[in-house]
Amino acid sequence: MTKVTDVLASMDYGPAPEANDIVLRWLKSRKVFGHFIGGRFTEPGKTFTVKNPATGEMLAEVTQGSDADVAAAVKAARAALPGWSRLSGHERARWLYALARNVQKRERFLSVLEVMDNGKPIREARDIDVPLVARHFYHHAGWAEMLEDEFPGSGPVGVCGQIIPWNFPLLMLAWKIAPALAAGNTVVLKPAEYTPLTALAFAEICAEVGLPKGVVNIVTGDGATGAALVAADVDKVAFTGSTEVGRAIRRATAGTGKKLTLELGGKSPFIVFADADLDAAVEGVVDAIWFNQGQVCCAGSRVLVQEGAEAAFVAKLKARLSKLRVGDPLDKSTDVGAIVDPIQLSRVTDLVAQGVAQGAELHQADCALPAKGCFFAPGFFTGVAPANVVAEVEIFGPIATLTTFRTPDEAVELANNTRYGLAASIWSENVNLALDIAARVKAGVVWINTTNVFDAGAGFGGYRESGFGREGGREGMREYLSLPKVSEKKETAPVAPDPLPHPEGGSHQGIDRTAKLYVGGKQARPDSGYSFAVAPKGKVLGLAGLGNRKDIRNAVEAAHAAGAWGKATGHNRAQVLYYLAENLAQREAEFAARLKAAGSPKPAEEVAASIRRAFWYAAQADKFDGAVHQTKTAHVTLAMPEPYGVMGIACPTDAPLLGFLSLVLPAIAMGNRVVAVPSQNMPLAATDLYQVLETSDVPGGVVNIVTGAREELVKTLADHDDVAALWYCGTPEGAKAAEAASAGNLKVTWVMPNRDWLGRDSQGAEFLRRATQVKNIWVPYGE
Ligand code: NAI
Repeated sequence: MTKVTDVLASMDYGPAPEANDIVLRWLKSRKVFGHFIGGRFTEPGKTFTVKNPATGEMLAEVTQGSDADVAAAVKAARAALPGWSRLSGHERARWLYALARNVQKRERFLSVLEVMDNGKPIREARDIDVPLVARHFYHHAGWAEMLEDEFPGSGPVGVCGQIIPWNFPLLMLAWKIAPALAAGNTVVLKPAEYTPLTALAFAEICAEVGLPKGVVNIVTGDGATGAALVAADVDKVAFTGSTEVGRAIRRATAGTGKKLTLELGGKSPFIVFADADLDAAVEGVVDAIWFNQGQVCCAGSRVLVQEGAEAAFVAKLKARLSKLRVGDPLDKSTDVGAIVDPIQLSRVTDLVAQGVAQGAELHQADCALPAKGCFFAPGFFTGVAPANVVAEVEIFGPIATLTTFRTPDEAVELANNTRYGLAASIWSENVNLALDIAARVKAGVVWINTTNVFDAGAGFGGYRESGFGREGGREGMREYLSLPKVSEKKETAPVAPDPLPHPEGGSHQGIDRTAKLYVGGKQARPDSGYSFAVAPKGKVLGLAGLGNRKDIRNAVEAAHAAGAWGKATGHNRAQVLYYLAENLAQREAEFAARLKAAGSPKPAEEVAASIRRAFWYAAQADKFDGAVHQTKTAHVTLAMPEPYGVMGIACPTDAPLLGFLSLVLPAIAMGNRVVAVPSQNMPLAATDLYQVLETSDVPGGVVNIVTGAREELVKTLADHDDVAALWYCGTPEGAKAAEAASAGNLKVTWVMPNRDWLGRDSQGAEFLRRATQVKNIWVPYGE
């Protein structure tokens, strides 16, 4: 008789395929799809074929969206906007509930369709993607309900153009559409060309629930269709995909006033300390890099293991790797399914081959791959030299790199040694260590002793070249809301500086007021050796240094060196700002007299408002804080507003003191260090502050001031890779140039027209929000 132990020893999984007959019938009845515009499907146009990556079989023909198709969809969305945005939040909430419920009703259908279109394992589509889709619509139904209470005075942005990738097709659709609709916007969404089918099924759900026509429009097509949508008459562009395309979209939208959010690539560290629960961490790697065949923007693709644990960890990882089941994505016991498309498969294959050729050792699962379809055996690299292409480039396939580190400092250094900053995962049983590292990694999402968990209630999005903006939760809602219009005011045109040799002794032709630049807490001669006359009303009031790119670079360096400011407590920063306010108050009359001489229309009011503003931001320095979200069971998510680091600030020509302080104070209150270009026409109001800054104990390098030609100096700031964010107040042309040049390192920009700086809307929480980026840290909380 066969013994149970023998059975257990030889036992293998039997086939457990998920039935796909209903999906096949659905596909057969549709066959060729048009777009979904204005509440109905259009006649198909020129089409392309959508295939099942696991079998190579054709699933459907889908229309390649033309410029005219995009224009028609945007027109339908625009026509639907007034009616949709006028609905009460409660009414919109009921539509979102209807969508959520109908997604839930079709969970199995949508999961199977997603698997056939994308190649991901049914277990993941069924247990992760589709439940999260429903969760997203429910959560945002809640935001619609509470909109007027939670975001008073805000309104929709308008028509949103949304472009999504192929790795989580329906989930990314939900991330885009749910908040947009909740906030009262209408949308045109373009799914990725490899995976458009669940979006088309979702369009049918919209029609079925009777969603007002034109609120959701779906246009299918490739990158050309996406580019047409970016260029179309939309008020906002939301994109998830590669950093390269994100950069192109940043350039294309520069100066258009279109609101933009970018969720881009990553090369996220997965840090394992020697004291970690190694078995849990090994399961973490499974979820970090083998989940969804590694086609995950926040994949933990760089495993960093502390030296003492390396041997044990690698042995466990290899054992686990050998047990992964690669194959039919519709089989319920499959762990790793198919890569989305032959093109992506060849990209992954190529990169991995390059990694091997450049000397890394590849450990791959020794499994039989299906004879056809886009399969790639999962694995990881060891012995990866820092210059190896796989150490740096996002593979976007099921292969991680594994390297070691010795100390926590080294772990942080390695973790941050990338141009990206999407996510990080930290494994340690020592809570102090884990939270210390969480604070120091540059990433928008940090998971402690877990990885790749998501929830609609927590923001998601990156630092650095992983993009900007957040999706999910309160932060995500703000991306789809517009604030009341500010009190715009036409700016006095900048006067081109007329260079004069910088006087050695401080005086020039009888002018005794000669300001230098202010860099690293010290007055510095301009590199050019030139100054320019400041004569806002024709009469020369003094000279200011004519700064150039070298001065900007020096200032950025000084700002970097002042990093301790970002780590100071809010209380410490508040003390310094209170001191600054007091010192300014002591010299109130002198500043007012100087502003009067400079032709300021309301000199006394300008100084008084500047002093009040300094007190107000001092008050905020220890109060503008984050939130704790209840997300998954046994977790809380800490939403921490963090300073960007080094910010560039270009000030308006008008309100030379108040305009300058209205921008610099919120930035430094939040822990940033700034390189500011003051009013080009009247820089002396800012240079008069040098003494105030010094006597107020503002640490050197926190505020750096470079006077000169604004547009030229901003260009250097925008181009600079070590400047993380840029605020620009000035001309429309200047704003466009600043945004376009910022595409290089995808720095966050805020461009604004000149405004009434005495107005109430020139101060407030919006300035603080714009001076921070939220890091969402997932912390275990409960068993
Ligand atoms: P992609 O960035 O080209 O595609 C993403 C979406 O953007 C698709 O809908 C595509 O049609 C659209 N698109 C392409 N060019 C566009 C343009 N010029 N303007 C507007 N929309 C455009 O990504 P692709 O080529 O499919 O994959 C290449 C690499 O990008 C992957 O290997 C991976 O490294 C990365 N990627 C990252 C994703 C993420 O979630 N962060 C998602 C997909 C890809």
